[in-house]
Amino acid sequence: MTSKKILLGITGGVAAYKAAELTRLLVKAGHSVEVVMTESATRFVTPATFQALSGHAVYTDLWDERPSNAMAHIDLSRRADVFLIAPATANTLFKLAHGACDDLLSTLAAARACPLIVAPAMNRQMWDNPPNQRNMAQLRADGVAVFGPANGAQACGETGEGRMLEPEEVAELLEGFFCAKVLAGKKVLLTAGPSYEAIDTVRGITNISSGKMGYALARACRDAGAEVTLISGPTGMEAPLGMRRVDAASARQMHDAVMAEVGQSDIFISVAAVADYRVKNPSAHKIKKGATPPTLELEENPDILATVASLPAAPFCVGFAAESQNLLEFAEAKRQRKKLPLLVANLAQQAMGADDNQVALLDRNGPHPLPSMPKPDVAKAIVEHLAKLLPQNQ
Ligand code: CTP
Repeated sequence: MTSKKILLGITGGVAAYKAAELTRLLVKAGHSVEVVMTESATRFVTPATFQALSGHAVYTDLWDERPSNAMAHIDLSRRADVFLIAPATANTLFKLAHGACDDLLSTLAAARACPLIVAPAMNRQMWDNPPNQRNMAQLRADGVAVFGPANGAQACGETGEGRMLEPEEVAELLEGFFCAKVLAGKKVLLTAGPSYEAIDTVRGITNISSGKMGYALARACRDAGAEVTLISGPTGMEAPLGMRRVDAASARQMHDAVMAEVGQSDIFISVAAVADYRVKNPSAHKIKKGATPPTLELEENPDILATVASLPAAPFCVGFAAESQNLLEFAEAKRQRKKLPLLVANLAQQAMGADDNQVALLDRNGPHPLPSMPKPDVAKAIVEHLAKLLPQNQ
């Protein structure tokens, strides 16, 4: 994300402590952060903390005379690219939904010329409280973006929905907020990670795919405005925010999960490193060491991508080709064999498990090579390219 001017509003909940880390992360990412706090927020955390972390004066008072025209309520949000309120308490959300202007923070929200984002934080019963849900519906209808809340342990000792997202999560969603919404309204189905074919109850055949490329693409699609379903092999990674994840270990489980979802999808992106073969007769018990080594008999797995691409009403299909030699030649042959409008070619030994990737995008106009980049940047480039190839954009 290019450097943005962020006005960070902090309201009076215990999650206010998370705003300190959030400020640090945003400043570290190169953004300019100005902080405005409600009176109640200053009971939990001090303005001095945010002054030190943001490098700017902190505002709490509607009558603050420091802005050049002495109009803090207009000045602060007029010079911001976005007004992010994190944490946003139930009381603040109520005030925002009704246009209240009884302190600096609420007045800034009413007088702003930039988008408003709220990250709610409250007890689960307060979150579920019908008036609060009405306020949230009103805010969404007014075009306010809502980050979270998360489900989990709460300061009061209860567990449920209402926790503020973690600072890293808010920062990640904020980055996505500024992305061009080139996939708005699209449903994207994606596979990612390795597959696992059982040999016996404790052993199996898998590969060194980390899932990083697939997860980065899932996030890039989400940030481009798509509704994403991620079918994931065993990666050990957290499910990315703002999408549904379905776990599938073997190629056949992945195949079944994809076929159950594909009817509702506009785009299918097959990033998973799926095993071409599985063990024919996996043992129901751990195989014991014997005098002769066991022999594994293999049988072919379904090719998920080829199956989806040849459906009568196939979604727009994007494949990956992991080759170890003759990259462009082998990849183009694969693209044509699997009937794909777009294929991402990469060298297996360079790409799998790594943080960076160098790919070439192959479509009917030939190869489009990209430089080596971190996988999240590769993912953004793929999404931009694929959006241009969608039938309605041709
Ligand atoms: N793929 C799939 N199902 C399989 C095998 C592969 O959906 N059983 C998909 C992968 O997700 C990828 C593409 O097909 O998008 C190509 O995978 P790759 O392993 O490069 O090629 P294969 O088709 O397996 O061919 P080969 O192993 O001969 O290179």
